[in-house]
Amino acid sequence: MLLSKNYLFTEIEERVKKCGKKDIINLGIGDAVRPVPKKINRSYVNSAKQMGAKSTFKGYPPISGYQFIKEGVKKRYKRFGVSLSDEEIFISDGAKTDLYALLSLFSTSTALIHNPSYPAYADANLIYGNRIEFIKSCRQNCFLPKPCDLKENYGNGYLIYICSPDNPTGVVYDKNALKLWVDYALNTGSVIIFDSAYADYIRGDYPKSIFELKGAESCAVEVASLSKTANFTGVRCGFTVIKNQFTTDLDKLNNLFKRLKSATFNGVPFVSQKAGESALINVGECLKNTDYYLENAKMMRAFFNDKGIFAVGGENSPYLFFECPCRLKSFDFFDILLNKAGIVATPGVGFGSGGEGFMRISGFNFRKQITEAINRMDGLF
Ligand code: MLT
Repeated sequence: MLLSKNYLFTEIEERVKKCGKKDIINLGIGDAVRPVPKKINRSYVNSAKQMGAKSTFKGYPPISGYQFIKEGVKKRYKRFGVSLSDEEIFISDGAKTDLYALLSLFSTSTALIHNPSYPAYADANLIYGNRIEFIKSCRQNCFLPKPCDLKENYGNGYLIYICSPDNPTGVVYDKNALKLWVDYALNTGSVIIFDSAYADYIRGDYPKSIFELKGAESCAVEVASLSKTANFTGVRCGFTVIKNQFTTDLDKLNNLFKRLKSATFNGVPFVSQKAGESALINVGECLKNTDYYLENAKMMRAFFNDKGIFAVGGENSPYLFFECPCRLKSFDFFDILLNKAGIVATPGVGFGSGGEGFMRISGFNFRKQITEAINRMDGLF
């Protein structure tokens, strides 16, 4: 498998530019449109002022993050029943950077990736020269593959990627299903890279962190982001968690990661970390924000249900994954949606061959645009 010429969302952007259509409703890339919630933005602004005053100016930030935001991360995990210590937390500029950086820590070089899945997983492993095995995520397994779906076990252990709530399908693992993966990883010497970027969209009884599961502390790394929680796609702040129990022949994994980060990264800006701290503490503001996008997703889900179109997600996720009408291929329906309705959605096949015949549509837009998109789609389906 070769790295595609463009990253999926760059490819979509170029196609949209080329079509020259005006009045487009973008339900493609999951980019926040709402402003940073007020209280959180106040922290951002105040910290920028601090940078402009002699007595409060800050130079290089600590590599793994300021203490104040680590306290916020600890409080967040406490709500999930997970206790963290400072050295287990790494403040990042969002999930993508660490998803790549982590790859150099592991001796195993075969990734196990859902097909379809967030394209950054396969891209990072292709750039790194790793082998990739795909596991089908499909209607038959409710888009929640389990270890029993593996054809055979790979001898040296996998880097297993799990995103829950999932991108692109919007489905979410329950505790029992996730536990199967933790046990599998422990039994096979595999590592789980758990992407919890959409955890704040969970409303049902599902784990928000892999560390809610016993055993995960010694085989999993969690990569999280505030991008979709507090509209931080432009602010850039997230965090990675590696528990002390995760040890290797050389050292604790978090010590190795700290060494790696200090050689390759100069930390997250003070202002982003201050905003991040505020987002981690002001849970109510973030909840209002994620509720808004969830309501958008709910409206689209109701539309697909009314039309008898098969769709998953949208209940604990801002994304829905729906089947293209008339058995159309993903990119053919992408063109129809774009040219006939002026709507951008993401072709399912862009997330892997298993997504062929599907589209991902996102709730990341204003209510008015969602209502208009539903009206436009009404004439199409
Ligand atoms: C998505 O829409 O899947 C993400 O927002 C895009 C990305 O992070 O690259």
